[in-house]
Amino acid sequence: MNIKTILKDMLNDKELSELGRSFDTVGEIMILSTQKSISKKEKKIGEVILGHYKNIKVVAKWKGKTKGKTRIRKVEVISGDKRTETIHKENNCRFKLDINKTYFSPRLVSERERIYKKVKKGEIIVDMFAGVGAFSVECAKNSNPKLIYSVDINRSAFKYLKENIKINKVEDKVIPILGNAKKITSELRKKGVKADRIIMNLPESSENFLKDALKISKNGTMIHFYHFLDSSDMYSKAENWIKSLKAKAKIISKKTCGQRKPYEYRTCIDFKVESDD
Ligand SMILES: C[S@@+](CC[C@H](N)C(=O)[O-])C[C@H]1O[C@@H](n2cnc3c(N)ncnc32)[C@H](O)[C@@H]1O
Repeated sequence: MNIKTILKDMLNDKELSELGRSFDTVGEIMILSTQKSISKKEKKIGEVILGHYKNIKVVAKWKGKTKGKTRIRKVEVISGDKRTETIHKENNCRFKLDINKTYFSPRLVSERERIYKKVKKGEIIVDMFAGVGAFSVECAKNSNPKLIYSVDINRSAFKYLKENIKINKVEDKVIPILGNAKKITSELRKKGVKADRIIMNLPESSENFLKDALKISKNGTMIHFYHFLDSSDMYSKAENWIKSLKAKAKIISKKTCGQRKPYEYRTCIDFKVESDD
């Protein structure tokens, strides 16, 4: 049953509309977008939700926007267990994470499936902004790559990434690396690593790392380049960044994979590096 239907006896139409349109469920945590006007009823709203959905143990609300280089959007618990750590199940994998210490979006489930279905046997993959390992672990678990280098700058994300590699038994395929993708790509290059596939899921500023991705590319490397783009000029900005690179690149596909706000989309351009080496 829809949440608004469950709450219709305790909230009037205006209050129901102030509950927002979207609810995210991460593991046992349900996150609401509530407005100040219904703050006095929040605890009760949480209790009704907990009573209805047996798999939900925590009801929380968003506190502000996604911030900083770690891309964390914090929540505040309004009902249920006082915790923000949970285990989220997705695409045959389990991810332990703390929503207040790491980035994680359940809305990318089908995008992650799209990517792991493309992975071919024996590939070397670099996940430049791996977070708690969602793309990396799903590729390792559901496809058959040789090795995935998973990089993240956030210490907490790195801690969960290491745990998730173990939980999902992909220790032989995924190498967790703590650090700045700029520095790590240079180090990988020095070690002679050339990727078949690079995942660049930092849509806020991934254009600043395109040159770093090229350091570990070879002829035929597939790059999944995510960015937030305005619907008015959609892909042209990102296409221009790609065109301005020194290496030749062939755009294979362009797609949206979610909406951040009205007229702004999370997009992914898949392009292939074409070079002589
Ligand atoms: C949008 S999140 C994506 C996480 C993951 N790919 C996922 O889908 O759940 C971006 C991640 O990039 C990390 N990050 C930001 N800047 C970075 C950098 N310079 N080097 C490595 N990681 C970085 C953040 O800590 C964050 O976990």
